Amino acid sequence: MKILIKFILFTVLLLIIYLQQPALADTVNGANGAKIFSKNCAGCHINGGNIIRRGKNLKMKALKKYKMDSVEAISNIVTYGKNNMSAYKDRLSESEIQSVSTYVLSQAENNWPKQ
Ligand code: HEC
Repeated sequence: MKILIKFILFTVLLLIIYLQQPALADTVNGANGAKIFSKNCAGCHINGGNIIRRGKNLKMKALKKYKMDSVEAISNIVTYGKNNMSAYKDRLSESEIQSVSTYVLSQAENNWPKQ
């Protein structure tokens, strides 16, 4: 009988670990977003700025003004590009674009803290 209880507890534990996976993936994704950003975007958008079109930066005020304050809108401009910003659809995968867009929005929400 005791062994059965142990077995059940063990199974429950495994289940809990299994259910934690998405949370773990999110943390990894967050770090990944930062990496993708420094590699592909920081050249023009260092610290959330924009060295080419200063007004079109990645601070929350500008993102709101140009209706870029959602992961969908950011992934859209990253995927297809716009004017002097090139498209990333051939260089980044959909999930990388998703990660970097989530990263940009969360950095904007926190006013671009240094990492
Ligand atoms: C060669 C320089 C350059 C690089 C590299 C670049 N961008 Fe841009 N980005 C721009 C320019 C220029 C604009 C303004 C486009 C326009 O509306 O005319 C822009 C606009 C944006 C906007 C909209 C900002 C706003 O206030 O409207 C977002 C979001 C953005 N970029 C994200 C990214 C991300 C994420 C990456 C990396 C995957 C990236 N950019 C890489 C030059 C660049």
